[in-house]
Amino acid sequence: MFDRTGPQSLVCTSCDARYALSDPVWRCRCGGLLAVLYTPRFDRRRIGNSGSTLWRYRDALPLARETQPVSLGEGFTPLLQGMLAGVPVYLKQDHLLPSGSFKDRGATLLITQAAAMGVRRVVEDSSGNAGAAIAAYAARAGIACDIYVPEDASGTKLAQIRAYGATVHLVPGGRAAAAEAALAAAEEAYYASHVWNPFFLHGTKTLAFEIWEQLGWKAPDTLVLPAGNGSLLLGVALGFEELLAAGQIRRLPRLVAVQAARCAPVAQALAAGQAALQPVEAEPTIAEGIAVAAPLRGGQMLNVLRRTGGEAIVVSEQEIAQSLRAWWRLGYALEPTAAATLAGLARYVQQGGHQQETIVSTITGHGLKAMAPVEGLLV
Ligand SMILES: Cc1ncc(COP(=O)(O)O)c(C=O)c1O
Ligand SMILES: [Zn+2]
Repeated sequence: MFDRTGPQSLVCTSCDARYALSDPVWRCRCGGLLAVLYTPRFDRRRIGNSGSTLWRYRDALPLARETQPVSLGEGFTPLLQGMLAGVPVYLKQDHLLPSGSFKDRGATLLITQAAAMGVRRVVEDSSGNAGAAIAAYAARAGIACDIYVPEDASGTKLAQIRAYGATVHLVPGGRAAAAEAALAAAEEAYYASHVWNPFFLHGTKTLAFEIWEQLGWKAPDTLVLPAGNGSLLLGVALGFEELLAAGQIRRLPRLVAVQAARCAPVAQALAAGQAALQPVEAEPTIAEGIAVAAPLRGGQMLNVLRRTGGEAIVVSEQEIAQSLRAWWRLGYALEPTAAATLAGLARYVQQGGHQQETIVSTITGHGLKAMAPVEGLLV
């Protein structure tokens, strides 16, 4: 059934229980996070001949051979080079993905696997880009989609979710209550969670593969990435770990995580040398996509930052607004959360001593999804 060697299964990261890849579980019965156990394959000639979407890395994705991708033509986004404070930097244009954010990478893989398993209904809790991406790919696959959001959620992203035909459920009681409602609904449906579902990370890891290829089959020295729930940070770490294990690169790039000063649990735990995240005081930030006070995968994020010799940078609301203005004035349509990452990138290069590094960052979300806040910040 599978065209790759080695065991292929889902494995629990807490108790080591195994499940078949074709089993529609998204969490271990012990409550632990699941990971995919399999061996990816990298054949540079095959990659180069496999079309200009992220499906060119199909051999490195944990899917059965007969599985048909649920695709909207995503991936292989341009990698542009520019200068920031006199330092050359590369920027991946992931805001150009079909639903307007990097979450399409995770959604295409998750929904592809869901469709292959015969899933007829998915549920998710996100009023933002993850909800929009899951709704888009569910629409493409003809799968019913229910998205649970806090009752005060509003804005273009919610309209986008509805426009794809998903049903939006407004839940009283905030973000945690929306997650609870989605969990309850997941008893009857497949939980297409960008936080829990391991297939999502196997989609976001394609950002690592694309950067590696676009740099001439080389890993950069440093990657500056946003850190909310970690679906990008952990996916990119996974991608480079797979390239390292396959002998395609010699060492892992340093990962630099950017958080908003108003909500910085990872940065605070790293600075304090803690092994696990501690509860933090969080205030609202204009970088709503990284406003996650208690991320489920916080410990994993700390691990990858330490393992790669990385660091965390926190940026103020003022720096985020300045970054947003500066990049729009250069022609880049980005949303405030994406501007936060680039504010972190500016901080990183301004530390000095990085002139000789190959530094890559990414524009994670399109500004047209957030024109009301963008307009407010530009005046
Ligand atoms: C535009 C944008 N950038 C970055 C992030 C952070 O991603 P993650 O929560 O996976 O760390 C998000 C999450 O919603 C987002 O919407
Ligand atoms: Zn378990």
